[in-house]
Amino acid sequence: MTTTVIAPPLAPSNAPDPAPYAEHAARGSGDPVHGKALFSDVKVGCVRCHRIQGQGGQIGPDLAGIGTKYGRPSLIEAVLYPSRQIAEGYAQTLVRTSAGSVLAGLVRSETADELTLVDAEGKLHALRKTEIDARGWANGR
Ligand code: HEC
Repeated sequence: MTTTVIAPPLAPSNAPDPAPYAEHAARGSGDPVHGKALFSDVKVGCVRCHRIQGQGGQIGPDLAGIGTKYGRPSLIEAVLYPSRQIAEGYAQTLVRTSAGSVLAGLVRSETADELTLVDAEGKLHALRKTEIDARGWANGR
């Protein structure tokens, strides 16, 4: 059996530096029509995880009214530095199974013998507790 070290996933080394984007977003006035199109574009991905007006995924929080909940600096941080602040109830759990595979997801339900995670694609993984070797938090917690 291969041993897998449980560690938070790293950003790819070729990921662009978010700082210039954060500065631009803080200065510009934004374009709501373009923003809405980007949000709903499955290639960008927001809509895979977030709902607005009842449409979209269930992995992240419902973003209806998000602009009244947070000011611009917090919104910029949530998008460009997603690991800095994790909304209540959305910290990802990382498990390693006795078969050697590693899964990351949100806890959808948990009983004494079973743990069900939902992954970033929205797929459910029901695991028997007896097949879980190690369990921790993703996002470096
Ligand atoms: C793979 C799923 C996924 C994708 C894709 C995604 N998000 Fe998120 N998002 C989350 C999760 C999970 C959280 C809650 C954890 C956290 O606070 O980081 C979150 C949190 C947020 C928050 C803070 C919400 C709050 O109430 O604190 C904002 C704003 C946000 N996302 C915007 C976006 C935007 C805009 C996009 C597209 C550019 C996007 N997200 C793409 C999963 C995703």
